[in-house]
Amino acid sequence: MDLKISRRIIVKTGLGGIFATMFHVPLLAKTALSQSIGRALLGFPAVAIADLTDDVVVPEGYSVQVFYRWGDPVSDGAVFKMDASNTAQQQLQQAGMHHDALQFYPLPMCSNLAERGLLVMNHEYIDSQILHADGGAFDSLSTYTAEKTLKEQYAHGVSVIEIKKEKNGWQIVRPSNYARRITATTPIAVSGPAAGSKYLQTKADPNGQQILGTFNNCSNGKMPWGSYLTCEENFHDYFHVSTKKGIAKKQKKAWKRYNIGYSYYGWHHNDERFDASLHPNEPNRFGWIVEFDPFDPKSTPIKKTAMGRFAHENVAHKIAKDGRIALYSGDDAKFEYIYKFITKHGWDGTQGAHHGQLLDEGVLYAARFDETGEGVWLPLIYGQDGLTQQNGFEDQADLLVHVRMAADVVGATPMDRPEWVTVHPDTDEVFVSMTNNTSRGDKGKADSDAANPRDDNYFGHIMKIMEDDVTSTTFSWELFSLAGDDESEATVTGDSYACPDGLMIDSRGVLWVQTDISSSKLNTDKFAQFGNNQMLAVDPNTGETRRFLTGPVGCEVTGVTMTPDLKTMWVNIQHPGEDVPKVLKRQGLRKSADNPNAASNWPDHQKEGRPRSATVMITKDDGGVIGT
Ligand code: FEO
Ligand code: CA
Ligand code: CA
Ligand code: CA
Repeated sequence: MDLKISRRIIVKTGLGGIFATMFHVPLLAKTALSQSIGRALLGFPAVAIADLTDDVVVPEGYSVQVFYRWGDPVSDGAVFKMDASNTAQQQLQQAGMHHDALQFYPLPMCSNLAERGLLVMNHEYIDSQILHADGGAFDSLSTYTAEKTLKEQYAHGVSVIEIKKEKNGWQIVRPSNYARRITATTPIAVSGPAAGSKYLQTKADPNGQQILGTFNNCSNGKMPWGSYLTCEENFHDYFHVSTKKGIAKKQKKAWKRYNIGYSYYGWHHNDERFDASLHPNEPNRFGWIVEFDPFDPKSTPIKKTAMGRFAHENVAHKIAKDGRIALYSGDDAKFEYIYKFITKHGWDGTQGAHHGQLLDEGVLYAARFDETGEGVWLPLIYGQDGLTQQNGFEDQADLLVHVRMAADVVGATPMDRPEWVTVHPDTDEVFVSMTNNTSRGDKGKADSDAANPRDDNYFGHIMKIMEDDVTSTTFSWELFSLAGDDESEATVTGDSYACPDGLMIDSRGVLWVQTDISSSKLNTDKFAQFGNNQMLAVDPNTGETRRFLTGPVGCEVTGVTMTPDLKTMWVNIQHPGEDVPKVLKRQGLRKSADNPNAASNWPDHQKEGRPRSATVMITKDDGGVIGT
């Protein structure tokens, strides 16, 4: 037993904590257990851990169908070619790669029907060895053409597809007037305090008002007035610093804080704006939450700067009693922070994308978690609490562009990679996943603390924040569950998992948890016991955890949405076929441009095929509610 962990849990939760540690009951359970008696939230038979099964598995009594794969046309565009020979222009009319979070919007707009609707989803990033027939910049710079860069940029962004329930179930409507792709080149407007500021101005956009594209769109949010929020996460991977000569000291410091220096994708070889040395403000134009109206295919998306610039995982909102809106977002990197934005004005309950203006005015806060089980939302306002010129901030725009540095100054708590946030529909309980942080406790790094209780946090944890009202500036918190195994003192009741990432509480109150064990560790060593990545259903009152779905080899399970009647669910399967050490050992080969299906050949399983990220659709065979 790691005494440090148990001591901290006991300090925080008293006897309940001891009970929880001994019997592996989550720490929240004591008060809530009684509420759920007589109300069995989870009714399905659990699925087994999948050890290298190259398929999606759902419980007995349920069916799963592949619905929308990378390369499938959004409307009446070209069909997918299995040899990856589709051109950039064709990719522009097809599903992007690496599906992430998604949302269902009923049609007619704002109805509660489940007959017709829009599915809107993010395409987070790409695998160039699968996207191209002969690999990307990584494989060979001599064959890395401008056409390849463009195809990569078009495989990023967002898809909007129209779907309709037919006699044989839900189908994609083709052609559709709603269908749309937003990519890494789509013109996007800017609003909020940093719009037009000198930090966003570039040679191509001297007014700092129009940005080309959005990318690394990880998870999302959905506003009640009908808009979609897409969150820009690991934008630093797209910018290359060819030289630091002539770059201002302040700029160099900011690049270091935001990890800007090396481009994983190599777009700068063919698209100069991705060379940060030549265009030092271009990276400042990414790392935002972007809002658009999915019902209007001509609508211009808007980057909302008031909510700060960081590696936004997702954004979850709740409307306060007075109509103001609280929006929660985690910054997914080791030792980064959890943020909350509270709008200045309330929403009047009417429809229309113009309500997005509410997200331009308000206060952004970063969370501090105290050992007592209490916490404080620390305001990030220029001129207050050391956020002044002495500490290098010039104005609120500067502060928002460099909000990580502002949160450092006010003393927010560095977390173990905050991923998704979800708010319970009936309470003001906020759940946040910390996916893992193996650097916790390393030399020169922050030690474990009450809110991040494990050094070498391999398996991650889920935290619960209890707000009196979502506009409160203080809160209390608990560790909802420590993921992992007995050896790591996990507190999961039921089926085990590691590395929680996607979280969504549905309208029935079921907490859906999706996992992202990185493919370099999947099915291997201490992670072997968890099998392929998975999705579980959790009763947030009792902590009862049941495995609902397992994904194919090398994938991450990320993104889940349901129809309002909860009878149809869509889940995204991201990056099947990434290198998994155990598969490689077995086959003695490595996934490459020549061997794209070395690890997985899901979902098409064609001999000369390649794995494809895809949306799957899940229904219950008796037509009932999912999860029962
Ligand atoms: Fe895109 Fe942190 O996951
Ligand atoms: Ca994620
Ligand atoms: Ca993740
Ligand atoms: Ca991912």
